[in-house]
Amino acid sequence: MSNFVDLHHHLIYGVDDGPQSMEEMQQMILRAVEEGVTDIVCTSHATPGLELFPQERYDAHLAKARAYIDAEGLDLRVHPGCEILYTDASARLVREGRIPTLAKGDAVLVEFSPDASFQRLMDAAKSFGMAGYDVIFAHAERYAALRSLKNVRKLRDEFGVYIQINANTVINKRGFFADRWLRQMLANGYVDCVATDAHNLSSRSCKMRKCHEVLSEKYGEDLADELCGGFQRRLLEI
Ligand SMILES: [Fe+2]
Repeated sequence: MSNFVDLHHHLIYGVDDGPQSMEEMQQMILRAVEEGVTDIVCTSHATPGLELFPQERYDAHLAKARAYIDAEGLDLRVHPGCEILYTDASARLVREGRIPTLAKGDAVLVEFSPDASFQRLMDAAKSFGMAGYDVIFAHAERYAALRSLKNVRKLRDEFGVYIQINANTVINKRGFFADRWLRQMLANGYVDCVATDAHNLSSRSCKMRKCHEVLSEKYGEDLADELCGGFQRRLLEI
């Protein structure tokens, strides 16, 4: 399989700490295609209540990405979206249409500071859930409160939270406890999808193919396919 969906990818230039020029964005598009990605949700950072999401610039630069893809005849679709830093204003601003959802659907990608309390994570799940959204926690491996699998289970069972892990976390060894945590998360079925969280072409690049290969070797191809695209296509209806 190589029709991967990357639902966490900072592709759009000039709006956050992703690419800073159109040329860099174009190179990232070519890299994603090489990596077998056929759909990218372009998840620039949104910091609700702290800064307005730069919607106009984002839309203009997304249109440039699409024009380049069309001109090059690439098999790639780019969808709007963002990565929402959770604040008390987040759910309200999404509902008011001032922050984009993933691929114009009902799902949102939410991040926290690494030391956010478990209560804070539950508050996020509740507030988005009550507003009618499906919540995906971005790079769940970062949060101290999720080292406890019991907490992960509670968020999934009681609040329907979905879990995204970064491709680099799957690919690279990170130490005994972190690696054991990831193995247990995968073995328990607590990971819904992986994504590259690509920001550039060097230190944080799109490595979907290698991630799929590692998952296939360790957990079988079916699970690898599911985590690299199956889940995302169903949830986002793309
Ligand atoms: Fe990100």
